[in-house]
Amino acid sequence: MTFSASKLLLFGATGDLSQRMLLPSLCALTSDGLLPANIEVIGTARSEHTDESFRNFAAAALEKFLPSGRQIEIDPFLSRLRYQDLDASTPEGFDALAKCVGLVGTNEDEGLSIFLSTAPSLFEPTIKGLAANGLAPNETGGNVRIGLEKPLGTDLATSCQINDAVAGAFPENRIFRIDHYLGKETVQNLLALRFANILFEPLWNAAHIDHVQITVAETVGLESRAGYYDGSGALRDMVQNHMLQLLALVAMEPPTSFDATAVRDEKVKVLRALRHVAANETVTGQYKAGAINGGAVPGYDEELGRDSDTETFVAIKAHIDNWRWKGVPFYLRTGKRLPERTTEIIVKFRNVPFSIFEGRGAKTLPNTLVIGIQPRENIRLSLMAKVPGLDRGGIRLRQVPLDIAMPDAFAGPERRIAYERLLLDLVEGDQTLFVRRDEVEAQWHWIDAIRETWAEEGMTPKTYTAGSWGPSASIALAERDGVTWHE
Ligand code: BG6
Repeated sequence: MTFSASKLLLFGATGDLSQRMLLPSLCALTSDGLLPANIEVIGTARSEHTDESFRNFAAAALEKFLPSGRQIEIDPFLSRLRYQDLDASTPEGFDALAKCVGLVGTNEDEGLSIFLSTAPSLFEPTIKGLAANGLAPNETGGNVRIGLEKPLGTDLATSCQINDAVAGAFPENRIFRIDHYLGKETVQNLLALRFANILFEPLWNAAHIDHVQITVAETVGLESRAGYYDGSGALRDMVQNHMLQLLALVAMEPPTSFDATAVRDEKVKVLRALRHVAANETVTGQYKAGAINGGAVPGYDEELGRDSDTETFVAIKAHIDNWRWKGVPFYLRTGKRLPERTTEIIVKFRNVPFSIFEGRGAKTLPNTLVIGIQPRENIRLSLMAKVPGLDRGGIRLRQVPLDIAMPDAFAGPERRIAYERLLLDLVEGDQTLFVRRDEVEAQWHWIDAIRETWAEEGMTPKTYTAGSWGPSASIALAERDGVTWHE
């Protein structure tokens, strides 16, 4: 059901994500007239603010974090903001919040969208507080939907606990689990590439693809998130959600339509077909002091201020046990303090079955498709071509790229923040780019098994120098299969 919500209640309104992403996205959407004209945005958090001081707070955040180069009006958005302080860990205060929100309508155009950008430990008390005060649909039948920011638990058990608590107050079709990678244009473009072109689909299988690589590399270290990150590590912070979503989009069967149920039905089948990973198919690492872009950076333990076994890098050789992908490894790697910030998907095709050129001394190399997610937004297909010239008695072949840079192909449309897409879809009730409960649970199921294997084997992260591509064991993981990580 789609309805346009006229109120948006933002938990964690003074937090980091709100300042960097949510307030700027809502401001841009308002400026472009994409949100309902009468929308009110109510911020809530523990800090004390009046409406006025929250508007000043928001204005400062917008000044800092609104994307440059776009014409975004700030005042119309600021005038929509209100604030109610609340300690969500206790039931007191929810009645005042409910009063501030006002009546939640049951008419199509009077809905309330709630967005939880808080510590997951606050999810359960928040849901209870909402339900007890008429702000949850199971109680009131009102038009209320809820967006949940990650992390959704730390393992399958805690994720189920959160999902159960939310399900007690919201039906699944009102729950919007965020994976902000799904809000990225280039990630959505994966679906266009695969299912709006005839070229790739016939080759998109084990008969023609040798392997797939997915790299999500970051140059940043701990930033200011030591408390969260040290309890999480790269596997749970990046693989459980973003990387598995990328993998599912690459590997899924064609859905029957571009709607939430059809797309998510196909993704979950892939996630459930992931094979249990053996210990020697994973590598973990933690960065020690090194240099990024020529500047010295401290090691993880130094940044943290104590010793820790948390992994800041992980590489995995994954397998999807289904007809399409039998025998095609998916190499995943992600890490902090790697040499560059880059997210890309590499599809390495098999070589031609027989080369007519070999007798003439020319070698054919397999075609490679590189899908640049960020910061390069491009699609690059390497093809074999004849080198021009009159080569006596032979032919020379060389790989040449067919390279489409998305910003050049689409110079007109503005680049959007991923959260603009997701917040708009939340307000409009489109769940296609949100993660369904069964997907999250399949993701955790696979991740928990990896962590159990690490624990059983007593595996601890190997060190790598900040600014390198992770521990050498990661290179060996691919090389023993004759594979080189794409760089
Ligand atoms: C978040 C992780 O989900 O994604 C962070 O918690 C990570 O550790 C971030 O830095 C990366 O997002 P992006 O959009 O910058 O690639």
